[in-house]
Amino acid sequence: MIQAETIEKIEEIKTNINRLNEQLEEHYRNILIEDANLSRQIVSFQANKRTASFRWYKYKEAFSAVLIEYFINKFGLNNKNILDPFAGVGTTLFASSNLGCKCTGIELLSIGQKIIETRIKAHYGFYNNYIDYLKSILSEKPWLGINSDIKLNELRITKNAYPNETKKSIQSFIKLISTYSNSVKDLLELALLSILEEISFTRKDGQYLRWDYRANRGYGQKIFDKGLIKDFDTAIIKKLNEIILDLNGNDELYLWGFDHRTSEKGEIKLIKGSCLDELPKLNSNTFDAIITSPPYCNRYDYTRTYALELALLGVDEKSLLDLRQTMLSCTVENREKNLLEMNSSWSRAIHVAEQVDLLKTILVYLNEMKKVKRLNNNGIVRMIRGYFFEMSCVIYELHRVLKKGGYVIMVNDNVRYAGVCVPVDLILSRIAENIGFNINNILVLPQKKGNSSQQMSKHGRKELRKCVYVWEKM
Ligand SMILES: C[S@@+](CC[C@H](N)C(=O)[O-])C[C@H]1O[C@@H](n2cnc3c(N)ncnc32)[C@H](O)[C@@H]1O
Repeated sequence: MIQAETIEKIEEIKTNINRLNEQLEEHYRNILIEDANLSRQIVSFQANKRTASFRWYKYKEAFSAVLIEYFINKFGLNNKNILDPFAGVGTTLFASSNLGCKCTGIELLSIGQKIIETRIKAHYGFYNNYIDYLKSILSEKPWLGINSDIKLNELRITKNAYPNETKKSIQSFIKLISTYSNSVKDLLELALLSILEEISFTRKDGQYLRWDYRANRGYGQKIFDKGLIKDFDTAIIKKLNEIILDLNGNDELYLWGFDHRTSEKGEIKLIKGSCLDELPKLNSNTFDAIITSPPYCNRYDYTRTYALELALLGVDEKSLLDLRQTMLSCTVENREKNLLEMNSSWSRAIHVAEQVDLLKTILVYLNEMKKVKRLNNNGIVRMIRGYFFEMSCVIYELHRVLKKGGYVIMVNDNVRYAGVCVPVDLILSRIAENIGFNINNILVLPQKKGNSSQQMSKHGRKELRKCVYVWEKM
């Protein structure tokens, strides 16, 4: 039983949160606007499913090439110098390079790095001379005759992820790849990485990998049936066909009306590592725009959901744990990073985050909820604090590396914990403003259908905003 006094105290903090939230909403009233151009489809991977090359590797957390084209055109950024510090599979890089921009991406996970590196080669036509060769691989299916002595690298969380026959086929395919000395190797590896989920017993589900009941993992309360699990040959043939079609000059890319065939492709540079380590190494006043989407503060654990791919790329147990801690804090397992020890010039960024009253009050509230055991997981408070303090340091660096008049265009979602909305858009914009940005816009995606006022009163909650922030360096 929670004591009446405690309930009262918690309610009081909640009232404060609402008041501070309203104050910030009022502060940004004229620029917090709905933008009908920003459909869910283009602010997610969905639109890439119809876009040549971008469709090869389905990165659920990606945004679309169309979104990048939209903002580059809107802000006249063609041929400019662009940065994405959370590059993922490189959507910003490839879409802006198509429009003549010079682009730099920073990405921590080897899956994103591998996709970007291989796509860079495809982007500049490296594979154009290999199309017939690829076609011959497709028609001869040489992996079928291979009895592989290569063992698939597995992690504790990926054990028994594939039906036995599929596992054998993967091993044969890996053996086949190892026999190629030319760079077709990378493209075949990309194809393999791109089908792992669909041929496995798993489904990427945000925080974890979900396991189909057929995997016999022996845990999990609810029975999950992922439906058809594709066999290896069907999946790899389909993927290779798709890749060959796109390398051949698939016209789908122009579907959206941004015909970039006239532009010369800009140079793309990938920096491997954490942006918390790499941003400070970049020169000040270098970039015209930063177009990015950091991990959301939603407990999604990329090191778990992409574990099949990371295992295939040779990540072992120890490096998986290290990666998890190096990622921007967004899971309950993240320990606190000593930001000042990482970089003493971040004291200002840390101070700025400490000064945001709304964030402070939300953290007090969550701590109280933790004390009375009303928080799903005790790590949530540390995660939220870590998220905003680390993001504050990132924003500080973004401000430094941008040229005067340069833009940050950032996609992010608001989240909710213990019945309270955490308005990530307002808090990060407040931090950015105090670091020196002008907050031009917080563009809100139009509400989903079906979110009627009736439903709102029934469920007592508004839908969480998904936004694109536009900040300008003054
Ligand atoms: C929302 S995704 C970005 C997806 C990207 N916009 C795209 O279209 O592919 C966030 C990315 O940030 C990466 N990430 C997380 N922590 C990082 C860090 N400390 N440094 C660099 N990248 C990081 C994740 O691996 C993930 O790929």
